[in-house]
Amino acid sequence: MLPRTGINKLLQATEPRSLVRICGWVRTRRDAKGFSFLELNDGSCLANIQCIVDETSPAWPNLEGVNTGASVAVTGDLIASPGKGQQWEIRVEALELFGLADPETFPLQKKRHSDEFLRGIAHLRPRTNKYGAVFRIRAEAAQAVHDFFYQNDFFYVHAPILTGADCEGAGEMFHVTTLPREKPYKVEADFFGRECKLTVSGQLEAECLALGMGKVYTFGPTFRAENSNTPRHAAEFWMIEPEVAFADLFDIIQLGEDLIRFVTRRVLERRVDDLELFNRFVDEGLIARLQSLAGTPVARLSYREAIAILQSSGKKFEFPPGFGQDLQTEHERFLTEEYVKGPVAVYDYPKEIKAFYMRLNDDRETVAAMDLLVPRSGELIGGSQREERLDVLKGRIEEIGQSPDDYWWYLDLRRFGSVPHAGFGMGFERLIMLLTGISNIRDVLPFPRTPGSLEF
Ligand code: 4AD
Ligand code: MG
Repeated sequence: MLPRTGINKLLQATEPRSLVRICGWVRTRRDAKGFSFLELNDGSCLANIQCIVDETSPAWPNLEGVNTGASVAVTGDLIASPGKGQQWEIRVEALELFGLADPETFPLQKKRHSDEFLRGIAHLRPRTNKYGAVFRIRAEAAQAVHDFFYQNDFFYVHAPILTGADCEGAGEMFHVTTLPREKPYKVEADFFGRECKLTVSGQLEAECLALGMGKVYTFGPTFRAENSNTPRHAAEFWMIEPEVAFADLFDIIQLGEDLIRFVTRRVLERRVDDLELFNRFVDEGLIARLQSLAGTPVARLSYREAIAILQSSGKKFEFPPGFGQDLQTEHERFLTEEYVKGPVAVYDYPKEIKAFYMRLNDDRETVAAMDLLVPRSGELIGGSQREERLDVLKGRIEEIGQSPDDYWWYLDLRRFGSVPHAGFGMGFERLIMLLTGISNIRDVLPFPRTPGSLEF
């Protein structure tokens, strides 16, 4: 690695320093008589550093052709800037050029580009202020997730990506095969001798680990072939799935709330410069909303209460709310944005609209499920207490038309030393949308995968 200091560190300087070296990309170049001003960014933070080359500097001849997009290393003294707008600047003594960027064809010229345009150049957008900021916040939030669970004595475990099981029973899975496409498909001839798919959730495996290790979580990619082209669904997304033995539904609602608040506080503490960008250009009021999110408890409403609230709201919904109906986006938005004015956990859903593994309540109509909804992005977390009674679980598997034999290992957890346990899945991109105010999931994933889109 070339010796260098990150701009993030340099800008924290409390006194001038001699001969610092930074490596980065030129954001802009401005020439004046006898001087050239380069704004450099190295991705370590939102801010650029101003570098001044004067015509007597040995670096002067190397400026030839250096313009927006060029990559350089700059060595010089860090001094207090006499100019407006920045505290520090670098008086350049040496400039090493790595690569020029042709101004005729380099697409990131100094002007605001639309999100749509930038999606088409996802390989270059990390060099913009906005996308650098998103992906730094994403990194900070991922680290915070690990720190949260580590501090709470959870073990980070890894669930397989290739699987034969369909956890959510929704059937929206990608198939994986090594067989050539031309021939008729014969499962016996395939790599595993049985159908293989990309996992939609690591939950079933996480349950096995939790029922031996107590408290575990996964954090990895999951895949859904939902053909819904919405701003909140991606075909490949990251999920955080904690699973806790000897726990019930309300324990994991609390866990979800604690996790959201921990990560929000961390991002507010450590990435405030990046958040300010979103607060200014994407979502006015973002920082105030995050501060309130970090400080207020999540509301709790049973599904029955939620339906009653929607029905008596006086609102005209496109889909009339009623017991047995899934909550639609318009319902989620009303509950979070108008009724609670913040996040809300809705629990005890009708069993027909939820997965087979959720614990049947005593009313035999509802299951111990919860969805944690947040303003704007809707469902952030889906979770449940798991059915721990062998006979009830078998019955549920049969009810959905599947064979309990296919779940023999999952049922074994209930045959041998079964315990009440619960867990949830949090969509990591939905969390980043909440933290940045970005409204399209394609803009919080470095290389989004959505129907019809697999470039890069
Ligand atoms: O509600 P879901 O489907 O729950 C499960 O998969 C459970 N097995 C989780 C568990 O209990 N361990 O998905 C969980 C979360 C959703 O709340 C949502 O945030 C996110 O995953 N999610 C998606 N995010 C982006 N694109 C998609 N297509 C998503 N589908 C779900
Ligand atoms: Mg869900």
